Amino acid sequence: MHGKVVVMTGGTSGIGEVAAERLAGVGARLVLVARDRARGEATLARLRARGPGVGHVAHYADLSLIADTKRVAAEIAAAEPRIDVLINNAGAMFGRRRVTADGLELTFATNHMSYFLLTHGLRERLLASAPARVVNTSSAAHRRAGLDFEDLQSTRDYRGFMAYSRSKLCNILYTRELARRSAGTGVTANCLHPGFVATRFGDASGGLFSYVVRASKKVFAISSDKGAETLVYLASSPEVATISGGYFYQCQLATPTRAAQDYAAARRLWAETARLAGLSG
Ligand SMILES: NC(=O)c1ccc[n+]([C@@H]2O[C@H](COP(=O)([O-])OP(=O)(O)OC[C@H]3O[C@@H](n4cnc5c(N)ncnc54)[C@H](OP(=O)(O)O)[C@@H]3O)[C@@H](O)[C@H]2O)c1
Repeated sequence: MHGKVVVMTGGTSGIGEVAAERLAGVGARLVLVARDRARGEATLARLRARGPGVGHVAHYADLSLIADTKRVAAEIAAAEPRIDVLINNAGAMFGRRRVTADGLELTFATNHMSYFLLTHGLRERLLASAPARVVNTSSAAHRRAGLDFEDLQSTRDYRGFMAYSRSKLCNILYTRELARRSAGTGVTANCLHPGFVATRFGDASGGLFSYVVRASKKVFAISSDKGAETLVYLASSPEVATISGGYFYQCQLATPTRAAQDYAAARRLWAETARLAGLSG
C-alpha cells in the first residue's frame, strides 16, 4: 500500500479505526473524514505513530448532512490529485426517529446518503487513479429488511433496528449498482459484513436497544481487531483487485438476501437517491 491514498469515513472509532491503523502500518496515506475534531486529531496521532512522515490528514464533516458531505467531498477532491481507495464506513443507529435539516430520516441520511454523496464527489479522482476501489461497510442486519420505496424515510411505524437494517440493505444495493455502472473503468465496488463487533456501535442509540446491544457485545461480539479484517482485505488485497459488486464476510464472497440482489430495486434506489441529493442520476 506504499504510495496509496485511502479516503475513509468512520475512521475515528471501532473497525474503521483499526483498519486505518493497519493500512497506515503497511504504508498507505490516510485521508480521514471525521465529524469531531478532538477524535479526528487523536486518530491522526495514532496513525502518525504507525506511519511517520506519510502526511495523514483529516477533513471534518457531519456526514448526515447533504451540504456538508458535498462540501467535504469537494475539499478532498481539490486537495488530493489521486485516490486509490475510498472506504465508506461511518454508520449509526437511532432508537427514536429523527429528521435532518434536509428532511431525511437520520439513519438513511447517515448510513446511505453519505456513501452515495461522497463517492459521487470523488468519482473523478477515483476514475483518474484507476485501478481504484470503493469499499462500503454494510451488515448482515440487511437480512431482516425489505425496501419500501413509498416510505424510504420510515415515516410509518419507525423502529430503530429496522431503519438500520434497511440502510444496510441500501448499502448492498448501492454497491451493486455502482459496480454495474463502473464496469470497465478499473474502479471496483464491494461491500462487507464485519461480523458482530464490540465497538461503540449502538451505545448512544438510546432506549432498550442500547441496553441489549451493550449486554450482547459482552457475550457474543468479536474484537475490533477481528472485525476490521474484511475491511482491510477489500481495501488492500491483490486477491480482490478485479472483483466488483461483491458482498463479503470473513474475507470471502457471501450471498446477500434476494432483496439485496434485486437489480431493479438497485437502479430505482440510485435514481431516488440522486434526486434527494439534488444530483442527476
Ligand atoms: N459493530 C458491529 O457489530 C457492526 C456490525 C455490522 C456492521 N457494522 C457497521 O460498521 C460500521 C462501523 O461501525 P463500528 O461498529 O465501528 O461503530 P462505531 O465504533 O460507533 O464507529 C462509527 C464511526 O462512524 C462515525 N460517524 C457516525 N456518524 C457520523 C456522522 N454523522 N458524520 C461523520 N462520522 C460519523 C463515528 O464518528 P465518531 O468517532 O465521531 O463517533 C465513528 O467513527 C458502520 O457502518 C456499522 O453499521 C457494525
